[in-house]
Amino acid sequence: MNRVVEIAPSILSADFARLGEEIAAVERGGASVLHFDVMDGHFVPNITVGLPVLKSVARATKLVIDAHLMISEPGRWVEQFVEAGAQMVSVHVETDPHLQRTLTCIKDKGAMAGVAINPATPLIALEEALPFADFVLLMSVNPGFGGQKFISTALDKLRRLRRIIDERQLKTRIEIDGGIDRNNIAEVAAAGAEIIVSGSAVFGTPDPAQAVRDLREATMQWV
Ligand code: DX5
Ligand code: ZN
Repeated sequence: MNRVVEIAPSILSADFARLGEEIAAVERGGASVLHFDVMDGHFVPNITVGLPVLKSVARATKLVIDAHLMISEPGRWVEQFVEAGAQMVSVHVETDPHLQRTLTCIKDKGAMAGVAINPATPLIALEEALPFADFVLLMSVNPGFGGQKFISTALDKLRRLRRIIDERQLKTRIEIDGGIDRNNIAEVAAAGAEIIVSGSAVFGTPDPAQAVRDLREATMQWV
């Protein structure tokens, strides 16, 4: 198996007062995607950052910005997130009854469209949306906070999703998010993830650039 695995540091665990430096560090470490968690205090029990911060970040980095929208009624907002500079935008299957329309809208705006799914939501909830999605964001924690423990059943779910996508010969990529660190990243990569989000295991360390290098190296032992 020779799949290229990308590391997507999540700025949720970064020092927001030094955000530019933190982003530059993960860029030096070899990250290619920057995961940007948007929470509304409604769909998830936390509030983070939104459009103005995304606009500034987009001006400050060449990394692909991956906006993970943990918000109710995401269809109302996706176009603005693309306009603000997000090149990947994901919306949750649990909060969007018009998923096909929202995904198409993201793509028509010129970004990659993703469908995010919570740990306890069955894969069947997104199967019909797969042909319209550039990627699936499989949650391995319940969204809302950084630093949570990886839910171990996510590994089997990841393998099943990999199989569905391969059997249907779709190009949909798999991103995984939550509780991933140096100890479990190899297993996650081997199970079929292509974009791996990591927040506290990168920004919670004294040297985020080195943390990204270590994570990348750990994946290479397996893929
Ligand atoms: C959780 C967020 C994640 C979070 C991951 O709601 O969607 O992106 O930042 O952080 P860690 O890697 O610490 O679990
Ligand atoms: Zn996220």
